[in-house]
Amino acid sequence: MTTTYPPEPFRIKVTEPIRLISREERETKLKEAGYNLFALKAEDIFIDLLTDSGTGAMSQEQWAALMRGDESYAGARSYHRLKAAVEDIFGFKYFVPTHQGRAAENILSACLVKPNLWVPSNMHFDTTDANIRARGGRPANLVIDEAADPANPHPFKGNMDIAKLKAFIAKYGREKIPFGMITVTNNAGGGQPVSMENLKAVAEVYHEAGIPFFIDAARYAENCYFIQQREPGYKHVSVKDIAREMFSLADGMCMSAKKDAIVNIGGLLCVNDEILFQNIKNELILREGFPTYGGLAGRDLDAMAVGLYEGLDENYLAYRIAQTAYLAQRLNDAGIPTIQPAGGHAVYVVANQLLPHIPNYEFPAQSLGVELYREGGIRGVEIGSVMFACLDPEDNTWHYPALELLRLTIPRRVYTQSHFDYVADTLCKIKSRASGLRGYKFTYAPELLRHFTARFEPL
Ligand code: F0G
Repeated sequence: MTTTYPPEPFRIKVTEPIRLISREERETKLKEAGYNLFALKAEDIFIDLLTDSGTGAMSQEQWAALMRGDESYAGARSYHRLKAAVEDIFGFKYFVPTHQGRAAENILSACLVKPNLWVPSNMHFDTTDANIRARGGRPANLVIDEAADPANPHPFKGNMDIAKLKAFIAKYGREKIPFGMITVTNNAGGGQPVSMENLKAVAEVYHEAGIPFFIDAARYAENCYFIQQREPGYKHVSVKDIAREMFSLADGMCMSAKKDAIVNIGGLLCVNDEILFQNIKNELILREGFPTYGGLAGRDLDAMAVGLYEGLDENYLAYRIAQTAYLAQRLNDAGIPTIQPAGGHAVYVVANQLLPHIPNYEFPAQSLGVELYREGGIRGVEIGSVMFACLDPEDNTWHYPALELLRLTIPRRVYTQSHFDYVADTLCKIKSRASGLRGYKFTYAPELLRHFTARFEPL
């Protein structure tokens, strides 16, 4: 059992103060925020596990790279440094920078998705799902059944179900599927990796049907590290070589660089098809900026070029993945159920098991998240019915996700073991009085991406 993890492969040179405000203040802040943790002020949060997106600590090399940023509008040196890194790691023919992952998704969707076209994946993240729907398209999640069972220790629970994918393509046909995707690691399903074997099978099925294959690569380095650790035949292959192999299977990728490129802002869109690339550039100019900066400052491109390599560093990845496993283990030792095995970037508490008395339509993971802030000033994020329940346009009924999760997302290179011990101790206190927690109802909810701006009332 993981009782500790490798010491941080860095030491701390700059600090950022955090403070725990009083319980009464926390209660007031919750009310003011409409019980939506997104609406809290960051300064009122003690430990922020809302997301690992853009929240990592940059290294001294990245800060130094910022100073080298070339702010030329077109053809900046920063762009060419990023281009060299992108070509070296991912190997696609063409790329553009974007300001973050969803901008890449938006542009790809604008180019390829039309009303009533389907885009299958293992599981789309919420922004991908919404960008496809925003163009009238239909996202489909075809992950293996094991993903729905939090206790199942399958080493690659992010895998696509190949039989489901074949049946899906047979049902809708190539004309209805402009491209297929896979998300590595599968964030919506617990930060679970996809095996190389599965990636190869998925690529083959898409390509046999003539469907272009795109990878959502937000956490590709963590996924490749899991392949090295868990998949037969990869023990002695470097994470970078595993990444090269992974991307050689695909026709393109979208990436939020705010995760495994350890930058505070940035994204990438890569493709091999020249005509699609022309269209992407035109969309990019409309929405993001000139193709050599794509909505970013030159310095951001330089920080990304350095961060892409740091995210692949195997000492860093060993520490990072073990840190996540440590928090999960501490919770499991106290009888708090989390998705097994621990994911790469987050621990997912199975709120519907901890709070079986709260039904999905009263949002058990929202309730647990609110309580975690109330008890300890800690912010997690609901990944359950607030985020994913949706009204099916075909049968006009509500579809609820299989799991109600509270994600404790771990920013990169930010918190230490004592922070995680505090998080675990706080959740243990809540567990001892879990049966007293109540559900929530919406007082406001927008149609798409409602978790960001919804407001709630306790029941
Ligand atoms: N794809 C995946 C798998 C993601 O996890 C995210 C973002 C995106 C795409 C979109 O990228 O935020 O740069 O526009 N996930 C964050 C999270 C927000 O908290 O999981 P973005």
